[in-house]
Amino acid sequence: MPDLSQQTIDRLVDAASEVRGRAHAPYSSFTVGAAIIDAGGRVHVGCNVENASYGLSVCAERHAVAAAVSAGGECIEGLAVVTDTSPPASPCGACRQVLVEFGDFPVILANPEGERIVTSVGSLLPDAFTPESLVKGQE
Ligand code: THU
Repeated sequence: MPDLSQQTIDRLVDAASEVRGRAHAPYSSFTVGAAIIDAGGRVHVGCNVENASYGLSVCAERHAVAAAVSAGGECIEGLAVVTDTSPPASPCGACRQVLVEFGDFPVILANPEGERIVTSVGSLLPDAFTPESLVKGQE
């Protein structure tokens, strides 16, 4: 898994910070922005979108994945998640499972104060159930 350059990290954190400002979070007031870079260098963003029927709320990371896939950028090379917490918040369990569908790549957790944690999908979700898990073994 190649590391992201500092320039790419800055680009992703900036994009995630910007889209976080468009989050729809009237119930939790907890706004999240996520930005994905694909193999072609394109950036795809998502924010959390809550609903009065609370369980229908969707996380920023999953919206960013949907945006990337919808744009044809399925080869994900990195993700940044921005929250206004210290330390920066980490993706929820459901989002980790959605992320691992697209492999192991660097994940940057950041906040507006400039804190940054560099981790990876593999570190966030060890021993994951992946597409390879569906392949039946030899009998
Ligand atoms: N949220 C995300 O967008 N990503 C996560 O990984 C964790 C939580 C959102 C969901 C909800 O709108 C708000 O943060 C509070 O849980």
